[in-house]
Amino acid sequence: MARKADILLVDDEEALCTAAEKILAKEGYVVTCVHTAAAGMARFEQHGADLVITDLALPDQDGLAVLRRVKELRPAVEVIVITGHGTVEKAVEGMRLGAYDFIEKPLDRSALLKAVAKAVEKQRLTAENLRLRDALEQARGEEALIGNSDPMMVVKKLIRQIAPTDVSVLIQGESGTGKEVVADVIHALSPRRDQPIVKISCAAIPETLLESELFGYERGAFTGAANTKAGKLELADGGSLFLDEIAEMSPQLQAKLLRVLQDGRFQRLGSTRDLQIDVRIISASHVDIPQSIAEKRFREDLYYRLNVVHIALPPLRNRPEDIPLLASFFLNKYAARMHKTVRAIAPAALDQLLAHPWPGNVRELENAIQRAIAVATDDTISAFILCAPVPGSVPAAGIQAYGPSVTISVGTPLEKMEERLIAETLAICAGDKEKAAKMLGVSSRTLYRRSARR
Ligand SMILES: Nc1ncnc2c1ncn2[C@@H]1O[C@H](COP(=O)(O)OP(=O)(O)OP(=O)(O)O)[C@@H](O)[C@H]1O
Ligand SMILES: [Mg+2]
Repeated sequence: MARKADILLVDDEEALCTAAEKILAKEGYVVTCVHTAAAGMARFEQHGADLVITDLALPDQDGLAVLRRVKELRPAVEVIVITGHGTVEKAVEGMRLGAYDFIEKPLDRSALLKAVAKAVEKQRLTAENLRLRDALEQARGEEALIGNSDPMMVVKKLIRQIAPTDVSVLIQGESGTGKEVVADVIHALSPRRDQPIVKISCAAIPETLLESELFGYERGAFTGAANTKAGKLELADGGSLFLDEIAEMSPQLQAKLLRVLQDGRFQRLGSTRDLQIDVRIISASHVDIPQSIAEKRFREDLYYRLNVVHIALPPLRNRPEDIPLLASFFLNKYAARMHKTVRAIAPAALDQLLAHPWPGNVRELENAIQRAIAVATDDTISAFILCAPVPGSVPAAGIQAYGPSVTISVGTPLEKMEERLIAETLAICAGDKEKAAKMLGVSSRTLYRRSARR
């Protein structure tokens, strides 16, 4: 059997302590005896115990004080009270305050052992429940992050390792790879999960606004500051702060943020009063920050503060194994949301998903599935309409592509562009000109003619 419980016995009667200790020690329990309430509380504060047994009539204070203190410090630890002559009413009060059981004086060996065994078992079950609850919460938190591919398993393992700590995390990944999902999971698996995760995008708002949003301001700090407002830093106190698109932050703000991270203090705009905060910083960027550092657009010292742990999220095209799983996750999600009966994706349609390069990553996949469900009339999706935009451009309406995309720089001669497109399309059709012509929307004669020009 596992280690026997550690019991703290608080009683001023020497003889009772010796007898109880003997009985319990024989059963393998480890017993510590003290004779006053103050000593009991001090011992518990310093060393804890698995179970506390306390007399109610102690020389310095009431035994109920010991009970209260134990429950305050560690509510899961059980307390048994010993009642003597004249303390029966107090025992009732003790039960109301959370004592697990009471035993009467004079101590009876079997009553003592029975009460202790029951309390220890209850304690074990409570601990087991807590452990199960933690495991469940962890699984629930992780569930939000879909993907079993090798690169995603590496990411998940790293998240599990670092989530419970307070270290700063920088998440890097292309747009739509799930950086915000990862930030949410880290927060959900951290001891800060009952406090908020406050989010702010450094790209979406102008610099001056970003500063006041982050730091907050006092009334009258600037024109338009009609009322004092707490900043995101304050709102995140005790929780996590998610700084999205951190690479977009201006050098001035970077310097200011660095100071906050260095000493955990800052001031609202227009105030001289220091505010102390305790936040965990999770930041994200789709650009490669070392590159920004080389270009003198990002402070190296701030980078080291933010990047204590680095999570690189792989683009979806590098983990096609995750596509079926993600697709079915989004299928269930949106079918339910749109009250549709769509249940499946036809094999040909799944092949389409697998062949697509996903420049917009998981977000693009999510959108494609959402769109397909919206227009579905059947319970199976038989084909997807997938756009393959030139990176950095808005996808042109009506463009449908079924294979890898081609990058063509602005200013490329049309003729060259045509050549390139024909060559790539022929390549993915394995040289089948009929098929390539169909995809390109021209007659096979036209294709012959144009490809012959090369
Ligand atoms: N692994 C995943 N499991 C489930 N959903 C995901 C996953 N990755 C991304 N998503 C979903 O894809 C969408 C985009 O994810 P998210 O906003 O986290 O990406 P991002 O990396 O922050 O993108 P951006 O750089 O554009 O802000 C969200 O709707 C998110 O729920
Ligand atoms: Mg994002």
